[in-house]
Amino acid sequence: MYTEKVMDHFQHPRNMGELENANGVGTVGNAKCGDIMRIYLDIDDKQIIRDVKFKTFGCGAAVATSSMATELVKGKSIQDAMAITNKAVMEALDGLPPVKVHCSLLAEEAIHAALWDYAQKNGIEIQGLQKPKSDIHEGEEDEGEDY
Ligand code: FES
Repeated sequence: MYTEKVMDHFQHPRNMGELENANGVGTVGNAKCGDIMRIYLDIDDKQIIRDVKFKTFGCGAAVATSSMATELVKGKSIQDAMAITNKAVMEALDGLPPVKVHCSLLAEEAIHAALWDYAQKNGIEIQGLQKPKSDIHEGEEDEGEDY
């Protein structure tokens, strides 16, 4: 059911934990399953993500996608990190079973929430970034799984 990469990131998550010197922290929840994800970002003065960590109260797919997402955004500029979607994370993991696609949204939304926090604290605007939702399914119109 899960690819080798998903199993690897689930069993050996990268960047798990907290960052004491984080200057952007975002927490999001998934009302459908009750899982929670928190992302810590350490962004330098050139707006490069120097370090990133995550903590989750979530399923295996949430752990694996967060682990991969943190690997993908580390060392990137804010704008490049904004371009990393849950789809890109899933592709990097060689796919997820359709019923687990919603789990991959937690990481993307938590990164956006952490970037929002950073932007608020620093009085800047990040192009394309919207105020985070408290629940990733807030305002969702269709009931089906979206990809
Ligand atoms: Fe909740 Fe996967 S079942 S994030």
